[in-house]
Amino acid sequence: MTADGDAEPCAGRAGQGLGDPGRPRDGSGPPPNGSGGPADGMGEVRPPSERLSYVNKTILAPMVRVGTLPMRLLALEFGADIVYTEELIDWKLLRSFRRVNDVLGTIDFVDETDGTIVFRTCALERKHVVLQIGTSDPERALKVGKLVENDVAALDINMGCPKEFSVKGGMGVALMANQEKAIQILRALVNGLKCPVTCKVRVLPDVDATVAVCRALAETGIAAIGVHGRTRDERPQHANRNHYIHAVADALNIPVIANGGSKEISCYKDISKFREESGCSSVMIARAAEWNVSIFRKEGLLPLDDVIKKYLVLSVDYDNNGSNTKYCVQNMLRELQETPRGKLFLEAQTLEQICTIWDLGSYCRERQLEFKAAGLLGRREICPQVLRQESSDQGNPAKKLKLQDENAVSDDVVTMKVAYLRSLFPTDLDLPKTRLLAWTRRERLGMPSYQTVQEGKLFQSVLTVNDKKYTSSMWEKNKRWAEQGAALVCLCSLGQVNLETLKADGSVL
Ligand SMILES: Cc1cc2nc3c(=O)[nH]c(=O)nc-3n(C[C@H](O)[C@H](O)[C@H](O)COP(=O)(O)O)c2cc1C
Repeated sequence: MTADGDAEPCAGRAGQGLGDPGRPRDGSGPPPNGSGGPADGMGEVRPPSERLSYVNKTILAPMVRVGTLPMRLLALEFGADIVYTEELIDWKLLRSFRRVNDVLGTIDFVDETDGTIVFRTCALERKHVVLQIGTSDPERALKVGKLVENDVAALDINMGCPKEFSVKGGMGVALMANQEKAIQILRALVNGLKCPVTCKVRVLPDVDATVAVCRALAETGIAAIGVHGRTRDERPQHANRNHYIHAVADALNIPVIANGGSKEISCYKDISKFREESGCSSVMIARAAEWNVSIFRKEGLLPLDDVIKKYLVLSVDYDNNGSNTKYCVQNMLRELQETPRGKLFLEAQTLEQICTIWDLGSYCRERQLEFKAAGLLGRREICPQVLRQESSDQGNPAKKLKLQDENAVSDDVVTMKVAYLRSLFPTDLDLPKTRLLAWTRRERLGMPSYQTVQEGKLFQSVLTVNDKKYTSSMWEKNKRWAEQGAALVCLCSLGQVNLETLKADGSVL
């Protein structure tokens, strides 16, 4: 990893313009006069030695679902200097609370409606991680900035996403067409935050218009700008307009980060070539890193199996969600999914099952048990009571929560902590509700009835059969799953499903 303070002088590098001689060109200085910063007494800007420098950096680009903590840490281990998070939408972060996770050694931003981890970070990446947000509103963006500014190195605004969801919401590339709003957002952040602020844009069809809009954005006092050399309508197969990026780099006096070169990047040397062709001191890599993140190694690519193993160890160590891990490994395997091992992988559902394929199954299981013993609140422990209390404590770990009894049989309700894992029931006939209905018909009993309560985005169902009530103490993310969970408790209690089977398949821990 390059040290933060090793800013190479811009002179001698192609591009990077002339600009304001009074400002360091590495983006590490405070914002220019008139754009806020310490002068207006709002954000207390970090001293230059602590501010992230964007000169001569090799960067992991923001990638939805790919840029989560294990991938970012692996990119840093392999030599990336800066790592961007996936884009997170402002309102999602605003409905989260900050939790110090003393079991994993992480800071978690937890969705207060369903307990999902919206953003997980840790001290190892603190000086290198840039949180990218999607926003269309200066006030919301600033609130997010305030929420995270002590936990990240910088904040980035996505102004390049062409997806319908973003554009319809006035976010992403829509901001390139609404410069006034884009400038308001950047000004609010530059003026109000201690950490550097950047944005990532796409080029416009016209090179001069691209330079003009980037210049206007740079004048807000941002520390750097990422430029993807494709227009909003161009797709990855189109050639990247490196000469447009070059023109921007020549015109601006802040670091420009070149992006869009992955099609031509298959080894470390290609990164330098892209850097030269685009006239920028820094480059940002997305797909080439998604496929094999060891692209950041100066010594050369590692075999994919070695990369996957390292990635899985980090996924386990940071309790990364199984489906996110599967998505990332799938994007590494690509055509290898057709191999026997790839097919085995496609069938795997849980993190442990994925790890088993790379001989890390027992490592995963042992670590998970360790975490549970140390009090890690996993998906199964999330219930409205926990979220309400944690949200009001702001994740203060000093207060330990008293969780309800997991497996209790009272006269009123038979309760077990059973997770409904959809993948275990391939056909409708296998579903717990279907099986329970068939059983009640055989026994000539009344139809099972379900009463479901919703709190936030969590659901819990109480099932009544033959005047007896059954429920799972695990809150599910939708009504159907909550009902299936209650039916599973009932089937188990009636001896129609074996408890040992539920333990073996992971429904009961
Ligand atoms: C899986 C995936 C997810 C992406 N998600 C984001 C994102 O969250 N924010 C963003 O600004 N760009 C996102 N992008 C675009 C990349 O950051 C980058 O601009 C683009 O892939 C071109 O760079 P490359 O040639 O190095 O892949 C994504 C790209 C991919 C492949």
